[in-house]
Amino acid sequence: MSTTFQLDTSTSRANPTPQVMKRLTVPKIRQRKKDGVTEDPLVMLTAYTARQAQLLDTHCDLLLVGDSLGQVIYGLPSTIPVTMEMMANHAAAVVRGSYHSVVVVDMPFGSYESSPQQAFESAASLLKLSGAAAVKLEGGVAMAETVAFLNQRGIPVMGHVGLTPQAVNVLGGYAARGRSDTEAAKILDDAKALDEAGAFALVIEGVLESIAIDVTKAVSCPTIGIGASAQCDGQVLVTEDMLGMFERVPRFVKRYADIASIIEKTVVSYAQEVRNRSFPGEEQTYQPKA
Ligand code: KIV
Repeated sequence: MSTTFQLDTSTSRANPTPQVMKRLTVPKIRQRKKDGVTEDPLVMLTAYTARQAQLLDTHCDLLLVGDSLGQVIYGLPSTIPVTMEMMANHAAAVVRGSYHSVVVVDMPFGSYESSPQQAFESAASLLKLSGAAAVKLEGGVAMAETVAFLNQRGIPVMGHVGLTPQAVNVLGGYAARGRSDTEAAKILDDAKALDEAGAFALVIEGVLESIAIDVTKAVSCPTIGIGASAQCDGQVLVTEDMLGMFERVPRFVKRYADIASIIEKTVVSYAQEVRNRSFPGEEQTYQPKA
């Protein structure tokens, strides 16, 4: 008999509704593209918290713990200051809140670029601390050796080409990429190099649609577009952007809801009820048991 005293936490908010479901795997995601065709497009959204993951999980194939959490959660000006600790903690929360999707965690700026060995240590640490299944990193040809190194050592990698936000200081902003022939050719070369290095999927962000289509045809792994093309093998958006949490979003975002105004209206009601003392009411207060 165990002598360990355990609190009954069955009513805790953190307890997800049990779901009998098998988690997808990286090979299953990779196999969705067969002979250059993806019949069933991949659905990916960003998630940063356990509750958000619970709500998105059954509807997605992949949940991306993106380093966009720097701006979305922490109010940082870019993804540059995002740390390993932030990524590991949020990824662990998303893994706890999901049963079905493959959880992919972004490698933060500075944690992988200097060598394949540095990348392995950082990626291994992210996977160990969070339980996520794969990492994502930005860059093309320059990162191909690293992608192969990680892949051969048991770490699946999702690539990210086109507009790569961690390179904002080199690019000078977040404008769409590939407007010149040279840049378009470079994006295609980057994608091919990552595919050959063994990336299991590629995010293509903020490029002219023709480039996204060319890349999707040229690589054997699935492409996941954001500001790219409906002809990619899947799509991703930042969840808060598509929910309508922010006033300003990139042109490629479709707002599927206006959650910001729902929150605002709700808070106005709460504030009024606090101020006129109608909250808490009878239902929300405790009285002696009869
Ligand atoms: O950090 C992120 O959320 C991303 C997606 C926008 C692809 O990289």
